[in-house]
Amino acid sequence: MITLIKNIKELLQVRETSVSKVSGAEMAVLPTIKNAFLVIENNLIADFGLMENLPEINADEVIDATGKIVLPSWCDSHTHIVYAGNREQEFVDRINGFSYEEIANRGGGILNSAKKLNETSEEEIYEQSKVRLEEVMHLGTGAVEIKSGYGLTIEGELKMLRVIKKLAANYPISIKATFLGAHAFPLHYKENKQGYIDEIITKMLPKITQNKLADYIDVFCETGYFSIEETEKIMEAGIQFGLKPKIHVNQFNSIGGIQAGIKFNALSVDHLEVMNPEDIEALKDTETMPVALPSCSYFLSIPYTPAREMIKAGLPLALATDFNPGSTPSGNMNFVVATACIKMKMTPEEAINAATINGAYAMEISETHGSITKGKKANLILTKPISSYYQIPYAFGSNLIESVFVEGKVLA
Ligand code: NIG
Ligand code: FE
Repeated sequence: MITLIKNIKELLQVRETSVSKVSGAEMAVLPTIKNAFLVIENNLIADFGLMENLPEINADEVIDATGKIVLPSWCDSHTHIVYAGNREQEFVDRINGFSYEEIANRGGGILNSAKKLNETSEEEIYEQSKVRLEEVMHLGTGAVEIKSGYGLTIEGELKMLRVIKKLAANYPISIKATFLGAHAFPLHYKENKQGYIDEIITKMLPKITQNKLADYIDVFCETGYFSIEETEKIMEAGIQFGLKPKIHVNQFNSIGGIQAGIKFNALSVDHLEVMNPEDIEALKDTETMPVALPSCSYFLSIPYTPAREMIKAGLPLALATDFNPGSTPSGNMNFVVATACIKMKMTPEEAINAATINGAYAMEISETHGSITKGKKANLILTKPISSYYQIPYAFGSNLIESVFVEGKVLA
């Protein structure tokens, strides 16, 4: 099956040779081709170039993209899409003046979602989660990472990871699974934190890895959640079981989580709303991708990741949604890109780089996703007719997507 997309007004994120990520000043450049064609053969990008160089092609299907833009699908490297129910009541409680922290301290927050998850059947969790996955696919997400962390019991964590595995088997987009047993301490372990950590390390990790249910290990490293010492122990154990760390750090406090992540070669350190100069310094010349989650800052009214300072320091940055029931009930990467431009003062070029190739890096799929490169997956966004790619962040409330290609096929 050969599909030709012709007369593309502008083809974005064109990389002749594959790069794994872009950093600092490089992020300001988004390579594009104006008046382009793109050929999809089966599920891959087979060719692209200037319309004037369009070769003779025996295409099965020709799409005229006059006035429209084509870009690689979004790579959302941080989500909690698998959960049960919702936390609408906490949302209203926050409107009425309670803070996220106060709600969590009253037994709400992550523990509220954990209670719901453990009371819900695996089939029902799958049904609820697949609706969200389908939604984000239609919003242009072509690869996604999904975390556990609302089980907080062996059965609950395994149940979540099995749901992620089933989603990965049943949907054509790339899905990475992360074990986040260390998301919060269950109530009955409140006075025995070491007991829960032992359970993670000696009971959960062996079961999960034996069943190949996770690619990564995550910890919510934060005051009132997991300390630096606890985070390091869990990362170390995860690594022994073959799971690279991707961790939650610096959401509310800077307590050394970034440095801990770097020490254990974390693939990414995520959130980063509260950053001091030492945190930025520590990330220089490392392989660890910093990941910002601006929809979380928006929803909780907390600071935005200081993208400008980080980019000025030469760091790369990835953007992800953090889609979850408590702090970010939205999986819209288009909104993330717009919010990064509007609130974090990233340029459209930087934001699109962060949401595509750098997101791919944070899931170790840069070889196959995140740019328009021959041989990569034909996971693409075709926009409606638009004046320029600036529209993507500028018209922040509009749906500018006309169709989404996954593995070369248009999503119905
Ligand atoms: O990334 N910060 C930790 N975990 C999630 C939110 C968890 C929740 O409130 O359910 C996050 O924001
Ligand atoms: Fe998160």
